[in-house]
Amino acid sequence: MDQEIHPRRILRAQIVVPGDKSISHRVAIFGALAHGTTVVDGFLTSLDCLNTLQALRQLGVPVRQEGSRVWIEGVGLDGFRESPEPIDVGNSGTAIRLLAGLCAGQPFRTTLTGDASIRRRPMDRIVRPLRMMGAQVSGVDGDRYAPLTIRGGSLRAIHYRSPVASAQVKSCVLLAGLYADGPTAVTEPALSRDHTERMLTAFGAKVEREGLTVTVWPRPQLRAQRWTVPGDFSSAAFFLVAGLLMPDAEWVLKGVGINPTRTGLLDALRAMGGRIELENERLVGAEPVADLRVFSSRLVGAEFRGEWIVRMIDEIPVLALAASQAAGETIVRDAQELRVKESDRIATIAETMGRLGVQVETYPDGFRIVGPQPIRSGSCSSFGDHRIAMTAAVAGLLADGPVRIEDVACVETSFPGFWKVLAEL
Ligand code: S3P
Repeated sequence: MDQEIHPRRILRAQIVVPGDKSISHRVAIFGALAHGTTVVDGFLTSLDCLNTLQALRQLGVPVRQEGSRVWIEGVGLDGFRESPEPIDVGNSGTAIRLLAGLCAGQPFRTTLTGDASIRRRPMDRIVRPLRMMGAQVSGVDGDRYAPLTIRGGSLRAIHYRSPVASAQVKSCVLLAGLYADGPTAVTEPALSRDHTERMLTAFGAKVEREGLTVTVWPRPQLRAQRWTVPGDFSSAAFFLVAGLLMPDAEWVLKGVGINPTRTGLLDALRAMGGRIELENERLVGAEPVADLRVFSSRLVGAEFRGEWIVRMIDEIPVLALAASQAAGETIVRDAQELRVKESDRIATIAETMGRLGVQVETYPDGFRIVGPQPIRSGSCSSFGDHRIAMTAAVAGLLADGPVRIEDVACVETSFPGFWKVLAEL
C-alpha cells in the first residue's frame, strides 16, 4: 500500500494520539501475571500490541478486547500453559523480548518468532542474561536471532550489567527475575524508559532503584489493576515536529505521556529553539501526562550524544526532519542502536531524506545535517519501518510538492489511524 501526501498549511489543530505502545504491551503482560481481572482503557490497538494479546491467549490467558478497552484475566505467576504453536510477535521487539523473560520462568517449552525484521534483530542481548539465570534458550545463527526456543522454570537470581541501555533487555531480565531464587538486579549504562519499574510496583511487586541499578524481588503476589494508558509520546512526536515547522501554527496534542525517560525529543526541540508548552499536567496511573501546546518556531541546529540518545531513541527519525529545517549543523552521535531497530535507521533516515532533497552525512553511530534545506517533492519507501513512513509523511506536509511513500502498511504496528489524523488536520 502506498500513500501520497500533499503539502498543506495548517494553522490550528487539536490532536489526540492513541495509547502508548510500551505501556500497552506491559499492562497486558503484568495483568496476565496478576490475580484478578485487569481492565485497561486506552489500550493501543496496533498490530504490535494485538500480537502481545494473542501471545498471552496462546499461553492460556483469557483476554477480551473491545476497541481500546481490554480485559485480562490474570493467571498468576504459575498459571500459564504451554503453547502448542510457536508464538509470532510480528514486528514487535518489545513483545519478543519481554515475553522471552516471562517464558524463561515457565517449566515448558515456548518458541517465539516474528517477521523478517524481527528475525534480523539481535536477540543475543537477552539470550545471554537468561542463560546466566539458568534458562535453556536457543536461537538461530549462533543463538543470536529468533526464532528463539525457551525452556525455564526456577531461575537463579543474577546481577546483570547490561552493555546496552535497553528497556527491552532490562524488562526481560526483571520479568525472569520474578521467577528467581532471590532478588535480581539490572545495571544499565544509561537510564532507559522505566515503565516496567513503575508498573510492576503498581501491580504489587517490590522493585527498587538505586542510580542505574534496578532490583526486583521474586514471587510477588501481583494484583489486578484498572489501568488507563496515556497517549504515546512517540506518536505525538510526529505532530510536535510538524507543528513546530509549519508556519504560523499553534497545535495542541491532548493527553500525552511525558515520562521523563521518554521525553528527550521535547528537550532536544526546546534546545533547538522550539516553543512547546506543557498544560494540564497530571498523573494517570503511574505515569505523568500533559497536553502539549506547540507553536511554529525557528529552529537552530544542535549536537546530541551520550545520555541524550536513550531518552529519544525512537524519535530520532523525526528529529532528523526537524534538523533539516534548523539553521546550522545538527549532529547526532552515540546512536548506534538505531542500526538494529525496525530498520537500520541511520541508513533509512539518510536514504529517505536524500530522496526528498535533504543531504544527510552518516557516521557509524549517527549523522550530521546542515540546514535549512528545502524539502522536495519525491517518492520514497518506508523500508517496512513505521517511524520512517510517518517521518516521510510529515516531510510531505512541508515539501514543495507531493511526496509518495511506498509500503506504508507498517504504520499499523504503532499508530492505527495515523493517516486519518493526518487527513483531518
Ligand atoms: C521499548 C524500548 C526501546 C524502544 C522500543 C520500545 C520498550 O527499545 O526503541 O520502541 O517498550 O521497552 P530498546 O529497549 O531495544 O532500546
